[in-house]
Amino acid sequence: MKRFFFFKESLKNMKTSATVTRSSRFVCKQIIQYVDFENADVIVELGAGDGVITHHLLKAMKPNSKLISFEILESFCEKLNEIDDDRLIVINDSAENIGRHLKENGFEEAYDVVSAIPFVTLPKTLAKKILSEVKLYLRPGGNFSQLHYSTLAKGLYEEIFGKVETQFVALNIPPAFLHFCKG
Ligand SMILES: C[S@@+](CC[C@H](N)C(=O)[O-])C[C@H]1O[C@@H](n2cnc3c(N)ncnc32)[C@H](O)[C@@H]1O
Repeated sequence: MKRFFFFKESLKNMKTSATVTRSSRFVCKQIIQYVDFENADVIVELGAGDGVITHHLLKAMKPNSKLISFEILESFCEKLNEIDDDRLIVINDSAENIGRHLKENGFEEAYDVVSAIPFVTLPKTLAKKILSEVKLYLRPGGNFSQLHYSTLAKGLYEEIFGKVETQFVALNIPPAFLHFCKG
């Protein structure tokens, strides 16, 4: 049922979703591997969809930390708001406004950022703007973890963050590439 809802909503918004299947549990587990759950007071998630990675983050987070999840589609935000967890703050806005929303929620910077935004299909200027804001509001040494279905955008991360570690996850439809950078 959840898969069908994601399929239906994503199909209507292919340019901003870039897939019709939510991330597999293998992707979810692997993309959060560098998040410092013990020390993070605020984790930011970009492109949360209907919350498949969100659940994995919340499961691993300590009781007193916050998760700020950005999602532009209202229908997905409605699903995210059904998650009964007061550590979760759902933001129905584009990720380039990360700084404003962090401040409105009492934070100067994000401890770690996990993103599934399809930067390959977004206009290049918007992709650069979002990633520059992420770099600006990620703590020095913080982890930025990004999901993709190709390595086409790897150069963009190298340009903004410097060194990029890439891992491949075969058990996902489509197979996924995870890029890991440091703030
Ligand atoms: C590939 S889907 C990932 C969904 C989910 N996190 C998963 O892993 O299955 C990408 C999501 O990013 C959202 N998105 C695209 N552009 C965005 C933006 N500028 N700000 C916030 N979310 C965005 C889309 O609406 C979509 O839900």
